[in-house]
Amino acid sequence: MRFPDGFVWGVSTSAYQIEGAAAEDGRGPSIWDTFSHAPGRIADGSTGDEACDHYHRHAEDVGLMKGLGVRAYRFSVSWSRVMPDGAEKVNAAGLDFYERLTDELLGQGIAPYATLYHWDLPQALEDRGGWPSRDTAERFADYAAAVHERLGDRVDTWFTINEPWVAAFLGYAAGTHAPGRRSAAEAFRSAHHMLLAHGLAAGALREAGARRIGVALNLSPVLTPGQLGDQDQELTPEDAGAVSRIDALLNRQFLDPMLRGSYPPELLEVVGRYAGLDHVRDGDLDLIARPIDVLGVNYYAPHVVQAQPSQPGEPAFPGSEGVLFAATPGPATAMGWPIVPSGLTVLLRRLAADHPGLDLMVTENGADFGDGARDADRVAFIEAHVRAAHAAISDGVRLRGFLAWTLMDNFEWADGYRRKFGLVHVDFATQRRTERDSARWFREMIARNGLPAAPRPTLETVAARAGVSRATVSRVVNGEASVRPEVRARVQAAVEELGYVPNQAARSLVTRRTGTVALVLSGPRHDNAALVSAVVQYATSVLEASGHQVRLMLADSERSHRRVLAEAEGRHVDGMILLPPDRQDPLAERLAKTDVPLVLLGGPVVAAFDAGGDLVVAAERAGGRPVVAVDDAGGGAAVARHLRELGHTRPAVLTGPGAAAGERVRGFLEVFPRAEVSDDAGRLLDRRPDAVFAVTDPLALEVLGAAREAGLRVPEDLAVAGFGDGEAGRHTIPALTTVAVPVTELALALARSLLSALDGQPVAPSVLPVHLEVRGSTVSGGR
Ligand code: FCB
Repeated sequence: MRFPDGFVWGVSTSAYQIEGAAAEDGRGPSIWDTFSHAPGRIADGSTGDEACDHYHRHAEDVGLMKGLGVRAYRFSVSWSRVMPDGAEKVNAAGLDFYERLTDELLGQGIAPYATLYHWDLPQALEDRGGWPSRDTAERFADYAAAVHERLGDRVDTWFTINEPWVAAFLGYAAGTHAPGRRSAAEAFRSAHHMLLAHGLAAGALREAGARRIGVALNLSPVLTPGQLGDQDQELTPEDAGAVSRIDALLNRQFLDPMLRGSYPPELLEVVGRYAGLDHVRDGDLDLIARPIDVLGVNYYAPHVVQAQPSQPGEPAFPGSEGVLFAATPGPATAMGWPIVPSGLTVLLRRLAADHPGLDLMVTENGADFGDGARDADRVAFIEAHVRAAHAAISDGVRLRGFLAWTLMDNFEWADGYRRKFGLVHVDFATQRRTERDSARWFREMIARNGLPAAPRPTLETVAARAGVSRATVSRVVNGEASVRPEVRARVQAAVEELGYVPNQAARSLVTRRTGTVALVLSGPRHDNAALVSAVVQYATSVLEASGHQVRLMLADSERSHRRVLAEAEGRHVDGMILLPPDRQDPLAERLAKTDVPLVLLGGPVVAAFDAGGDLVVAAERAGGRPVVAVDDAGGGAAVARHLRELGHTRPAVLTGPGAAAGERVRGFLEVFPRAEVSDDAGRLLDRRPDAVFAVTDPLALEVLGAAREAGLRVPEDLAVAGFGDGEAGRHTIPALTTVAVPVTELALALARSLLSALDGQPVAPSVLPVHLEVRGSTVSGGR
């Protein structure tokens, strides 16, 4: 499988995620500095202050790229390094850095691709209104011109803005990205002003003689759960409406103005409803639609939606009332993003059909699969997407390059450093870079300009080649009549071309299945019943939606343990989810010895108390099985940092039994190593702490009670924070500051991991991020 000559292989990064040197050589603060320094915004409490220290190590990093053999490097320029106040005064020292970088790249034969905006708006401009203000778009054009003036003779390709949807809707509507505002109206205005900024900058760059100008959009095919299995499926009018609305918000909101000079009418209706249309001025669309030379496509996963009348809107998608963002059964990355390589083929084909003649480039694709260096998962992910890109090229799509996200592990926005997207591993304590297997694999692919002899074709490769779903391929292969003739012909051509032989053995394996999976509750008592019941409810619905029967089994006695084991050993169920393996019970270990696919809820570390009531952290107990866990330690640390920011110096921890508790305490002690830890609320208050972190909801209620009895005012005399496994904390007076546990995501991740395991896919352990919800129990005047 070879790519056309001249096809560009490369890697992408962005300034705030890697540069560090946040206050060096006159750089001004950006909204990401402000946001990451505010408590509770970044999952692991980190900032980009140092990041990968690329500012000082760019020569080494360019060396790594040279080693990979990439032809292009897409980096972003930090606006506030170049214009610390966002406007007027240019900081020559900031531009010097990008000049050093570009020269280094050119010296190594790597084409510099500069992105002018990857989310780091100068704070000074945010203070003057940010993207909701039209002025920001004008300032952007000035900035673009200033960068071009210095680098224009050397930079090959210019991308104006990276993923305006993310910047506008996560930044201004959902508030999960900087600047953290929550207003649908501001988000729509921001989106329009980003479009305008793109158009004005494209104009300025063109005038100055820029060689090639583009934009990088996050684009996703929008599908229903049914279409995920069978892209040719007919949709009900309701589902078709849901798909179209989300497609308008996510994709066409940007594609249409830039490439057609108009907004989709159905989108205008939504924008008008939330933000009015005054901000869209006469002539804007002409500016926005200035011709570009290349469209950058950042593809990670499809969006899966269906109509659901009672559904409230998603904050990031104002106007999405009545649309359910559905769980996607099947394999997913550690980030929880579903793995659907054929979505890239579908997307590229659509763009080529809708905008003929436009050059396309994959400007980001990659995946988080945890920290390991033997990253077969990442290799498989990128390889499948490279194949999907090739399939599109074979159909005549003008795809000019493929840039992997990303060169090295970095600051992954609100997720901090816990997400690992790098071909190269970074040890953030030492800044040491180490190539992963995926880096070596990428180098080989670049050297060949393609992939080695195709691996044994699978249903998925045939599906990707033919641009249909796996189900469609299997229907054609099994001679079912229900497939349209032209689709059948396409599938048959792909089958022939790839030499696909349907695998009988695999088929009979499939039919030996029972179609039943078990959810095992390892009782007898659960400290967090609310969490468990939510997990049972959501995981069941996903597993049922994927055609499985779900059996609930209670494992609260030796006899019931034996029953569960017998079910596993006799393969009366296809797989099991065990929750939560919290206590010292041997069931998880015993199940791990059978060969039934098994997914565990809870971290691999188990906490226990010794005879003296002291906390000891014991035993690895996952036995190599996939574990889906919540970042309990991160939650504990987030509480601790919050208390520290508030000026508390004598915090204490009230704990209880359970693995989660142990991890939560551990996280807290990372920040406050000397905090008093006890499982007795009364005794704890006798030590006169100025704040208490209670590791579960019920324990937090105990602290509130004990504080009241002791005549202490919360939060004035004593701040109290808890962990929101359940809802209890919201209803206390004052309301409790808690660490929010992503119950739904947890349930979905469990179900998806099991489905992947059933499919024989490797399943990486996943740890889901948590975030702090600050309320009145720590901040007076709080909610
Ligand atoms: C994209 C961003 C990039 C990185 C990847 C994982 O949305 O452009 O900065 O966060 O996702």
